[in-house]
Amino acid sequence: MKIKLLSTLLLITFASAFAQQAANRPTVVAGFPVNYNEDSVGTYTLPELLKTADGKPVTTARQWTEKRRPELLRLAEENQFGKMPPKPKDLSFHAFDDGTPAFDGKAIRKQVTVYFTKDTSEHRMNLLIYTPAKAVKPVPLLMNISFTAYNQIIDDPGLRVGEIWNKEGKKVKADKPTPFGKLNVEQFIDAGIGFATVYYGDIEPDFKDGLTHGIRKTYLKPGQTEPAADEWGAISAWAWGLSRAMDYFETDRQIDTKRIALQGASRLGKTVLWAGIRDPRFKMVIASISGEGGAALARRNYGETIRHISDPSRYLYQFAPNYHGWAGRVNDMPIDAHMLVALMAPRPLLLQTGSTDYWSDPKGEFLSAVAAAPVYRLFGETAPSTSATMPAAGDTALLMNRLGYFMHEGGHTVLPEDWQLFIRYMQKYL
Ligand code: GCU
Repeated sequence: MKIKLLSTLLLITFASAFAQQAANRPTVVAGFPVNYNEDSVGTYTLPELLKTADGKPVTTARQWTEKRRPELLRLAEENQFGKMPPKPKDLSFHAFDDGTPAFDGKAIRKQVTVYFTKDTSEHRMNLLIYTPAKAVKPVPLLMNISFTAYNQIIDDPGLRVGEIWNKEGKKVKADKPTPFGKLNVEQFIDAGIGFATVYYGDIEPDFKDGLTHGIRKTYLKPGQTEPAADEWGAISAWAWGLSRAMDYFETDRQIDTKRIALQGASRLGKTVLWAGIRDPRFKMVIASISGEGGAALARRNYGETIRHISDPSRYLYQFAPNYHGWAGRVNDMPIDAHMLVALMAPRPLLLQTGSTDYWSDPKGEFLSAVAAAPVYRLFGETAPSTSATMPAAGDTALLMNRLGYFMHEGGHTVLPEDWQLFIRYMQKYL
């Protein structure tokens, strides 16, 4: 029995290590071929960052903040992620675990249910928070958004077993092991940084008709069965949920709300980028492997493209319906990913990619950062120079810029050592 358990465990460990390193390189997706050849990327001109809609040059940080940024924010909303509603009036919180010692007394744990609507039977999100026990003043914190319930990724016997959506679209108890690996929370606590996390499915499930279960449903107008062309997709819904976590933090005196960073990977990398753009209360974003629809340039025909991502058979539900309209004519789209990156300026933004994550186009994220850098420079902040060359896997040369970029050696994942770099980055900029 013991041997069987051990070999199963070894198999799981091996399989997940393998999955982490395997090259992410599908060749035909949604019926469309995928290009991985630099020579076939095509030529493109990025839409101008530093010129207003009426053609005036933007030369100061103030002009950016007052004029250009709002224009671009609106364009990103209408064409890509969709508009989201403001803070709901019936938002409420219940701390069912209001400060319990965890990790041998090193941390204080809280578990808070965030109710999005007046009816508390549905539409609630469990927020897990650890703060360093020895803190004598409010602490900075990393807010993570995760693919599964927190009790499945963190080793702490005090955690409530959550519920997750299964493949069949049913909510089930989150009491099984997952392929996601465990998250080492103590490394944050040891660095004097708090850590919080939520399961994205608590906000809205991640499948095509997730709308019928998630928070977006409660905002449909009478007779409306889906969001309008410029209204929120699932990514905007998840981002909205993160702002509700921030609403809670504003009520918690142990947390320094001026020093909260967001982190998420993949579609949740896109989510944290958009959440940070939308909600300036977040003072930093670490967007891991965000790829297409995140920090990777859409105009580059490399790896996933808008055609692939916004195909109705795939992830159109994650975006505003309008986004699909750009699938066949990306060069006409009024925005591109360098604008998303620039919308974070002057706040610190770290883009983390992987060298064999071809599908997500790590070079497209690098070029996006280079193109967005002039906006960071308007504020006198550090960003990759125009002549910067793409760093090799593992090279930290661009990591510590305020607009930072880092590509690990490996695939579509966040590696244990990446978290260590995030801590260094947070210690510098939070
Ligand atoms: C798919 C999708 C990507 C997304 C990724 C993920 O690969 O095409 O855009 O980032 O899933 O969320 O892991």
